[in-house]
Amino acid sequence: MRINHPANLKQEKLRTWVEEMAALCKPDNVHWCDGSQQEYDNLCAQMVTSGTFIKLNEEKRPNSFLAFSDPSDVARVEDRTFICSVNKNDAGPTNNWMDPGEMHAIMDQLFDGCMRGRTMYVIPFSMGPLGSPIAQIGIEITDSPYVVVNMRIMTRMGSAVIDVLGESGEFVPSMHTVGAPLEPGQQDVPWPCNPTVKYIVHFPEERAIWSYGSGYGGNALLGKKCLALRIASVMARDEGWLAEHMLILGVEDPQGAKSYVAAAFPSACGKTNFAMLIPPAAFEGWKVTTVGDDIAWIKLGPDGTLRAINPEAGYFGVAPGTSEKTNPNAMKACSRDTIFTNVALTPDGDVWWEGMTKVPPAKATDWQGKEWTPDSGRKAAHPNARFTAPASNNPAIDDAWEDPAGVPISAFIFGGRRSDTVPLVMQATNWVHGVYIAATMGSEMTAAAFGKVGVVRRDPFAMLPFAGYHMADYFNHWLNFGRNIPNPPRIFSVNWFRTDKDGNFAWPGFGENMRVLKWIVERAHGRAASIESPIGWMPRYEDLDWTGLDFSQEQFNEIMSVDREQWKQEVLNHEELFIKLYDRLPKELLFQKELLLSGLWRAPEHWEVAA
Ligand code: GTP
Ligand code: SPV
Ligand code: MN
Repeated sequence: MRINHPANLKQEKLRTWVEEMAALCKPDNVHWCDGSQQEYDNLCAQMVTSGTFIKLNEEKRPNSFLAFSDPSDVARVEDRTFICSVNKNDAGPTNNWMDPGEMHAIMDQLFDGCMRGRTMYVIPFSMGPLGSPIAQIGIEITDSPYVVVNMRIMTRMGSAVIDVLGESGEFVPSMHTVGAPLEPGQQDVPWPCNPTVKYIVHFPEERAIWSYGSGYGGNALLGKKCLALRIASVMARDEGWLAEHMLILGVEDPQGAKSYVAAAFPSACGKTNFAMLIPPAAFEGWKVTTVGDDIAWIKLGPDGTLRAINPEAGYFGVAPGTSEKTNPNAMKACSRDTIFTNVALTPDGDVWWEGMTKVPPAKATDWQGKEWTPDSGRKAAHPNARFTAPASNNPAIDDAWEDPAGVPISAFIFGGRRSDTVPLVMQATNWVHGVYIAATMGSEMTAAAFGKVGVVRRDPFAMLPFAGYHMADYFNHWLNFGRNIPNPPRIFSVNWFRTDKDGNFAWPGFGENMRVLKWIVERAHGRAASIESPIGWMPRYEDLDWTGLDFSQEQFNEIMSVDREQWKQEVLNHEELFIKLYDRLPKELLFQKELLLSGLWRAPEHWEVAA
């Protein structure tokens, strides 16, 4: 096949690779993406014609589209995600592994002819500002126009990336197919995918990605989880930096002093919400700004501070639960120029999802394309329905969000979804204790991953599905990293999700999280007070700012208490993780566990802050 390569393509290796991949995948056409608005508009129009996209009401939701996925293709597939390192133990017990030679053979067979009847798109993209020394370049080859338009929002994509690559720049080759070749004359479906065969494959030594069979989110937008987390975590280990599943936000106090924090919460546990927080009315003069909502790349700066950048250019945010009340900035971000996936369509050509408004629409088309009414007993939107929106649409975007030097981080926050045991907030006593807290983090599973929703699983650093190597080596990397920082950021644990005896959230959350954030930032600068609890440093009731919120000391005690029986169970779960990782587990963490246990036994069985 004759491929029309772009005029600015100077790199022989890239040209050859694209030609080899075209020969393997056997598409009808090859299209090099230039990243232009016109190309984007053409692809969207083409998908409206093919039935993949529904154009939304131009007045209510300008320049926006809705896609319904195949019901079998709605989230990441962790059990089909592989880290194919040369040595099995380099992937570690928390990753699926296969021998790279064996896996390459499977991929070569699956990709042979996989794009028949389709167009092969070549997407040059940059994770991080174009041309910046911290950015990484990838080339994604895909047969999904849906992926192309999403990648244009989520990354810096197009022609300029080829210029940056020049004759010899490095790139991460990223192969993707929906795994649904078309026979001559065969009618396509709105959401092609392979309902039975899916592989999300990483070759960490080779720094290559192969993804087969899914068109959804992190399975298909390969710059995000595959490159910016799994492959980048390996680069980071080798080169001495961090690639993390973290939001980055800026906090400005009424005096104008600015701090930045990075926070790791597992999938669908509130990163986007926290990154776009609007302080309560009583917090006059306080401002929160967004640098990123999902991924942080962090390096030690020349001045000894930790510098963080957001490698992405858009938000792939959870729609359900997002509203004018919970996250007005996200609502603005997706008010236009947005691609929605698996939310409901209203009769006036707009979108709706559970939690968006108190009163649901009288009728709608649900995410499976079926007629829906509030009493139909089904969800209108899939729980993992998402919006793909440009970061530049976020009214709270931080001025420095594209600064290639990154923003200086004062604190790390780790938080899971826990209905009991874990208090609203606490601070680690030092870096090693902080690494322990992050390493042993647990969270109740959400719809963002394929699994049993609600069951607590260990999700170290919120990186369980995203670490591209042995989890214990990853802990060790964090320990080492801290040793080289003169004044490392303080480390905190938060839990917005503790429930009361009736099963309701005991903490109002969302904007009210500002009260916790304020204490964290002040602690990070050595200003706010705290006391020693059996499990870390904690604020007393009077150490948090309650202005404008009716929240009693008793309620506070309830969400801050430390219960020995619950923690006994918790430590047993830590131990289970440690035994799983034992051969490479840094010994500091075992001693830290002993300290935790002795702290628990020195304190009352049911410890309360008020005491
Ligand atoms: P990924 O994009 O999957 O990595 O997730 P994320 O961490 O960015 O998730 P997001 O912020 O989109 O979280 C979505 C879910 O968390 C929604 O159901 C929200 O309603 C809920 N949520 C976010 N913040 C809070 C909070 O402070 N309290 C409570 N109770 N729920 C929250
Ligand atoms: C996550 O699951 O953590 C996400 C969504 O951010 S996806 O990109 O689909 O992985
Ligand atoms: Mn995520």
